[in-house]
Amino acid sequence: MQHSEARVIVALDYPNQAKAEELVDRLDPTLCRLKVGKEMFTRFGPPFVESLRKRGFEIFLDLKFHDIPNTVAAACDAAADLEVWMMNLHASGGRRMMVAARERLEQRSHKPLLVAVTILTSLSEEDIAEVGFRGEPADNVLRLANLTKAAGLDGVVCSPLEAVEIRRQIGDEFMLVTPGVRPKTATQDDQRRVMTPGEAITAGSSYLVVGRPITAASDPIQALKAINAEIDGQ
Ligand code: C5P
Repeated sequence: MQHSEARVIVALDYPNQAKAEELVDRLDPTLCRLKVGKEMFTRFGPPFVESLRKRGFEIFLDLKFHDIPNTVAAACDAAADLEVWMMNLHASGGRRMMVAARERLEQRSHKPLLVAVTILTSLSEEDIAEVGFRGEPADNVLRLANLTKAAGLDGVVCSPLEAVEIRRQIGDEFMLVTPGVRPKTATQDDQRRVMTPGEAITAGSSYLVVGRPITAASDPIQALKAINAEIDGQ
């Protein structure tokens, strides 16, 4: 399996760099990519990302930028300097913010993938009403996914349960990156609405973000291989 075919992105959520590196040493960059989020990036910064890249891994930098267009475009440019494979921002930052970020990345010789978060899956209908969104979360997800497509981004981060409808409306040329994935044999942890890896791929996911089913497994590489085998079986 080559980089380009590996569809699992392992979420590194550790307060401790050595623990993360211990796990990473047991993984294989031809079988997965890695996601670095706000916690690890805030603690360990660009040198941590660099150390993962030196081990041969492609990185999804999950910092969910949301600010004025100029600031987000500059932040995306800075992330691209780290030679990450994928980065993200909040679609609710608006069309001009997304276009500014995309255009800045397009000036580079190698453009990383740029995807948007629509509505955080942690938000209920009451939560989004309180911040001024009307209607159900699912309708807002679709509206923001369509806006993301119109702004020329590569795709969105979404729940696998939202993937079918987004695929139906937006088509095949749009990347869907989905957390909330649990193999049948794993515990759900604090995830509530989950799909198995095979179900998520069938629903239209392009990449699966998987954390604890791999990071907390006694044999992480075996857990990863089992997920890849399930995906390949689809
Ligand atoms: O351990 P687990 O597989 O639940 O980790 C999933 C990863 O995806 C975590 O880094 C979590 O923050 C992220 N995520 C999520 N649900 C979302 C968005 C991101 O679980 N809606």
